Amino acid sequence: MTQQIDQVELKRGLRDVYFETTESSNVIGDVGRLIYRGYDIHDLAEHSSFEETVFLMVQGHLPTRSELDLFETSLREARAIRPEIVDVIRSVKDAHPMDVLRTGISALAAFDPDTEEVSHEATLRKGIRITAQVPTIVAAHHRIRNGLDPLPPDPSLDHAGNFLYMLLGEKPDEDTTRLMGKDLIVHLDHGSNASSFAARVAASTLADLHGAIVAGIATLKGPLHGGAAEGVMKMALEIGDVANVEAYLDAKHEKHERIMGFGHAVYRAEDPRARHLREGSRLLAEKQGQPKWFQILSKVEEEMRPFAERGICVNVDFWSGSVYYLLGIPEDLFISIFAVARVPGYVAQVLEQQDNNMLIRPQLQYVGPTDMTYVPIGERG
Ligand code: SDX
Repeated sequence: MTQQIDQVELKRGLRDVYFETTESSNVIGDVGRLIYRGYDIHDLAEHSSFEETVFLMVQGHLPTRSELDLFETSLREARAIRPEIVDVIRSVKDAHPMDVLRTGISALAAFDPDTEEVSHEATLRKGIRITAQVPTIVAAHHRIRNGLDPLPPDPSLDHAGNFLYMLLGEKPDEDTTRLMGKDLIVHLDHGSNASSFAARVAASTLADLHGAIVAGIATLKGPLHGGAAEGVMKMALEIGDVANVEAYLDAKHEKHERIMGFGHAVYRAEDPRARHLREGSRLLAEKQGQPKWFQILSKVEEEMRPFAERGICVNVDFWSGSVYYLLGIPEDLFISIFAVARVPGYVAQVLEQQDNNMLIRPQLQYVGPTDMTYVPIGERG
């Protein structure tokens, strides 16, 4: 949306403004394609693991077997959090899970030997540690707020499986672990989305990685960004039955209210990530004998088809909520799962920013008054 004000070209929301080059991910909006470091998201979702895709994202190439073994070991060895961090979580346990997470990451900075270092190598070391500990913080908080002690990480489980184990208290089966891994892969990175941009702005001042990630997480929480999956599941619960879908949507459209899980600032075609979670939701619903939510959301998707003509299509958040719900994960944790996946994406983008840094400092067009006369308070009436 470009506006001309006093011959200044205003680009609200910085839409369609290219401020840097990147090699991490390419969001091709008109055709609905997503590429991570040259690899199509469909290939990675189908054939890769979250750990392998994180390696690709932060190192820039797919790992050899020995590189991946080493990387997986470094993640597993870094999963545990100190008792001081558990104490911080206990002290803020009644806050929203995303507020607890950003508080926990801030607290991690107090104990990390590399916190103040902004070299590529130090950022990479911290990035691995934070990527490994974010699931532990999210899971520990959920256990503590339910009056339970946190579960220690299980080194026999992969990243996705261990997260679900620490969160729900039982080891997930292979299909569930695979589905969660796929969900994390498709949420890992996504060009200059609002929260990755926030992380880059922080990193561009040479602020440290912990601070950049806290900025990203605080930004991700917004319902227009990462918070949509929670809104989609709330919508499905409000609809309650597939017979109510049309009337529900009509009422929403009447009030010009947005339908969560649809539309995107870049995609004008279907978000390529959605298909992987649609299929995951279908299979999970079938396996659990709970077709209701998949039926409701499929009907919503069908009724929203006319919006596709305006470039308002289904996005990644539309189906992820039903997957988490069927896994027994409470709605207020949906956004935290997004953060579990996106944190290594922030690390990759902070590394890129640091390697070729320029302070990010756009302009605001001042349209307020000028040359006002200062009147002492006693004379202001
Ligand atoms: C993510 O940027 C990223 O990459 C983000 C993300 C990532 O991986 O990091 O992909 C993750 O954030 C996905 C998006 C999740 N959010 C939602 O699902 C919330 C619902 N969606 C919308 O709020 C909206 O679509 C945005 C904010 C996502 C994008 O909106 P835009 O591009 O700023 O478009 P807009 O707000 O200017 O709307 C243009 C028109 C408006 O109609 P008019 O006022 O012109 O008549 O489209 C309409 C909007 O009302 N519209 C919708 C709609 N989204 C836009 N109408 C109904 N339902 C919707 N969801």
